[in-house]
Amino acid sequence: MAALTEEINRRRTFAIISHPDAGKTTLTEKLLLFGGAIHIAGAVKSNKIKKTATSDWMEIEKQRGISVATSVMGFNYKDYKINILDTPGHQDFAEDTYRTLTAVDSVIIVVDVAKGVEMQTRKLMEVCRMRNTPVIIFVNKLDREGRDPFEILDELEAELKIAVRPLSWPINIGAKFKGVYNIYEHSLDLFTPSKQTISSRVEIDDVNDARIDENVGETDAAKLREDLELIEGVYPEFDVNEYLSGKLAPVFFGSALNMFGVKELLDCFVEIAPTPRPVNAQEREIKPEEDAFSGFVFKIHANMDPNHRSCIAFVKICSGKFERNANYKHVRSGKMMRFAAPTAFMAQKKNIVDEAYPGDIVGIPDTGNFKIGDTLTSGEELHFKGLPSFSPEMFKYIENTDPMKSKQLDKGIQQLMDEGVAQLFVNQFNGRKLIGTVGQLQFEVIQYRLLHEYGAQCRWEPLSLYKACWIESEDAEALAAFKKRKHQFMAVDRDGRDVFLADSNYVLQMAQSDFPKIKFHFTSEF
Ligand code: G4P
Repeated sequence: MAALTEEINRRRTFAIISHPDAGKTTLTEKLLLFGGAIHIAGAVKSNKIKKTATSDWMEIEKQRGISVATSVMGFNYKDYKINILDTPGHQDFAEDTYRTLTAVDSVIIVVDVAKGVEMQTRKLMEVCRMRNTPVIIFVNKLDREGRDPFEILDELEAELKIAVRPLSWPINIGAKFKGVYNIYEHSLDLFTPSKQTISSRVEIDDVNDARIDENVGETDAAKLREDLELIEGVYPEFDVNEYLSGKLAPVFFGSALNMFGVKELLDCFVEIAPTPRPVNAQEREIKPEEDAFSGFVFKIHANMDPNHRSCIAFVKICSGKFERNANYKHVRSGKMMRFAAPTAFMAQKKNIVDEAYPGDIVGIPDTGNFKIGDTLTSGEELHFKGLPSFSPEMFKYIENTDPMKSKQLDKGIQQLMDEGVAQLFVNQFNGRKLIGTVGQLQFEVIQYRLLHEYGAQCRWEPLSLYKACWIESEDAEALAAFKKRKHQFMAVDRDGRDVFLADSNYVLQMAQSDFPKIKFHFTSEF
């Protein structure tokens, strides 16, 4: 099985995350250029979801439809096989992003040097922290005026709650930006603003090399030396194991748009980023180098064409070799399945793949068999953990407006929930169905898709709630007492678990202090 180990060791599967506008799309595109995956800058850009806080979700969906093509981008760089998983920029699709993060082995965070850490970055970092995902930070847009890099480092540390260690250091910023000193490799990269070419590199021995003075001038060279001395004094030496355990984030500076600092980032990334990691199933830990195949569905992408109600289920391969037309077990249904047309995007082209390895993602055409979190194996009963739903924060009752189509409505709702579009609860007090989401757009998406894909019509009835949370207790009496007291606010989720619908933060806090024996959970996995 040496071949399997070799394939695993050369794989790097990661996601780039950022607050909208920090430069995720631009960076992705430049990385693809290095892999020879695209030849013209701008190719990814045209696919991206414009995040102008548009409420025109049709436009967003259209772009999302196109962006299936960029959901997973594979390319070869040096001897490495790199898989970049795209995450939607719009915050209403945050749940999609969270799930995508369960399928990656590491993450690159892009931060705008002028804006520092923004809201969405903070939230996504929380998800990384939950899973100890190794993180590299790229501080972008150094060609523009921005904040002092030391200040940015402090902010990263405080806001993202992770230790940081600069591995490159900028020489000035904005109009005076001259380049970066690569602390990791001891080289000096000079900045020549250009959108298509790579800037020049000056090889130097160390920070005292006179060639630095020659290239950036004495004043800036002196400032650089001073900064580096400070860095060496303040930050401990870079320890790759600290990074791999998710405790320390190396930081790079550059300008994605100008392709500056991107190669340094990529070169360091392939060297230090983790190979596919073991994955926890309920039953046991699965190691990638095990012979038997296993994988899980982390994303289902619906086809927006109403004439073909088909989807693509994205499967992350966790162990063994995946082969086209082999028989695999769909653990939830117990059925054996064969996949004749699994696809992968390699160098921007969608291809049928004959085999794939841990770390890879294959797209499987599906007509409603799969559900987010489903496991496929060579035969073993495995259930992967770690695809939690988060407490939704927006709620509406869903009402059928065409009694002749109630079956279609039920089926449509079931399938959309399987895809992870939103969460369905049944209020135990009045028996009504309510849908919880993380973003307003989902309600429009659901209504539109129910009509166009299932021929079912629905109406929304507003419901003002603060949060839904899962509750449990080891003390049956305490649980019964809670449910009795809060009977108007109790619901069950699709798995029949108890859910408390808190109508305000105050009510939730009171409930937590009044009922100490009840555990309140804010993700579905506990
Ligand atoms: P996102 O995916 O994180 O949302 O960000 P995206 O890459 O789309 O970048 C957001 C904007 O920032 C884009 O400008 C992009 O060109 C710009 N940008 C990215 N990297 C850099 C950089 O290193 N320096 C500078 N100065 N700008 C950068 P836009 O005006 O929104 O789009 P476009 O009209 O330029 O395409």
